Amino acid sequence: MAKPLIAGNWKMHGTAESAIHLASQLGQHWNDQSKAQMIVFPPAIYLTAVKAELDGTNIVLGAQNLSQHSAGAFTGEISADMLADIGCEYVLVGHSERRAVFGESNSTVAEKFSAAQRAGLTPILCVGESLQQRQQDQTIEVVAGQIAAVIDLAGLDNVCRAVIAYEPVWAIGTGETASPEQAQQVHSAIRAQLGDAGKDTTLLYGGSVKAENADKLFSQPDINGGLVGGASLEANDFLNIAQQLTEQE
Ligand code: PGA
Repeated sequence: MAKPLIAGNWKMHGTAESAIHLASQLGQHWNDQSKAQMIVFPPAIYLTAVKAELDGTNIVLGAQNLSQHSAGAFTGEISADMLADIGCEYVLVGHSERRAVFGESNSTVAEKFSAAQRAGLTPILCVGESLQQRQQDQTIEVVAGQIAAVIDLAGLDNVCRAVIAYEPVWAIGTGETASPEQAQQVHSAIRAQLGDAGKDTTLLYGGSVKAENADKLFSQPDINGGLVGGASLEANDFLNIAQQLTEQE
């Protein structure tokens, strides 16, 4: 059975005070770890403060990005070992904003993926098509290519023990969500690409997940949880979404 996960990507939002407050509210109200693991991804500068707030709770910490390099003269970068050192367990790799705004290629994403695993972090590999690619019927091909680039470098088994998040670019931060059927179609194609080795790999859906649409998305057979942006910034909204994941059969 794939392990259900609910991940909150806080992106570049908030202050030290609001990050600690949000972590504290989540920590007070989230105690159902048996059915789903909650992970939060605060801005890097607040990781340590959020970690301190989450100590003793069932919520774990993730980073939004990492360097593909292990150490050295890389001004402004943060290595996988540094993230592990301060208590991160997960890291997002290849988020569409990193690909589109910061020019990360499939091969850079693959290097970051491997760097994360070498340090003992679990990468959450984000993949997804643009609106134009969907309109041209290239969705499955684009997503398969993004995953294949990582399999080429890291190997199939390593990809299968990570987490993959399908996030259609046109649904991120737009309020538009893939329908449960559209999402399931891509998730089942990813499952097929991974083959037998991937039957227990956790596959998340991301892109405008909200309390109103979470249940139907999470009830799809190959959707094992969510990567939530906007709706993870309000404790009540995120807890409501997480609760819906725990209520799946
Ligand atoms: P969103 O972001 O929920 O605000 O669409 C999802 C993501 O970028 O991971």
